[in-house]
Amino acid sequence: MAKLIDGKLISQQIKDELKMKTAELEKQGIKGCLAVIQVGTDPASSVYVRNKKRACEYIGIESRSYELPQETTEEELLELIAELNADEKVNGILVQLPVPEQIDENKIIQAISPAKDVDGFHPQNVGALVSGLEGFVSCTPAGVIQLLKRSDISIAGKNCVVIGRSNIVGKPMALLMLRENATVTIAHSKTNNLQEICKKADILIVAVGKPKMIDESYIKEGAVVIDVGIHRKEDQKLCGDVDFDRVLSHVSAITPVPGGVGPMTIAMLMHNCVQAMTR
Ligand code: GUN
Repeated sequence: MAKLIDGKLISQQIKDELKMKTAELEKQGIKGCLAVIQVGTDPASSVYVRNKKRACEYIGIESRSYELPQETTEEELLELIAELNADEKVNGILVQLPVPEQIDENKIIQAISPAKDVDGFHPQNVGALVSGLEGFVSCTPAGVIQLLKRSDISIAGKNCVVIGRSNIVGKPMALLMLRENATVTIAHSKTNNLQEICKKADILIVAVGKPKMIDESYIKEGAVVIDVGIHRKEDQKLCGDVDFDRVLSHVSAITPVPGGVGPMTIAMLMHNCVQAMTR
């Protein structure tokens, strides 16, 4: 029987641990404050932002909301970030992505002080991860590591294939698995013989962004499968990048969608916020 990796439960455990930590910090007079900036009213972004603010409230840190109009200029957004960088009360800054096209996303990421970059997107934090130094780690891949560890799935020495090479998930995911001593392959949309490569994976992490692309022909018997994808189907139900029903009888453990990786992203954002408070 395949084990279902319960991201809802594990993310709740993490948030409860963090709630205790913030209570202790508060006794020492240390208070947390996350500034959340959203430009425009993209409905998916609004849901994410609302959930992030809710999580702040749950673990006991203040969240400050900045809802800027769609037509905000790059200069205006950079000005707000500069103000928040200088504000000693604010220890975390998050700009919900994507930003409207008149704004250069990379400029925004680089404008956030690396010490307040709780998303872990700033090149200084990415560089720290590459070099094995302390820094903020991108939340979704950090959440995947927690899912594996807290499900007692050993990583060291395992063959791990990551499908996807985005800056937010694929690349940091591969680096984190390497840091945990896995043997790591990064595959992507241009990879030849993708099925053959995936079939060698003891741990297959899928972040391709294509609904149900991965079926049993990609899976080694007994592999662990982590599905980072999330898509809304025509019937309004959610599905991942993995065809869950088809791979289930071939895997030893798998994350469901929803309720797998999804809830972990916010839990790890809260982890980074608490890290920012204690630095
Ligand atoms: N958009 C999609 N995922 C993320 C994330 O993890 N952080 C931010 N800031 N924006 C996102």
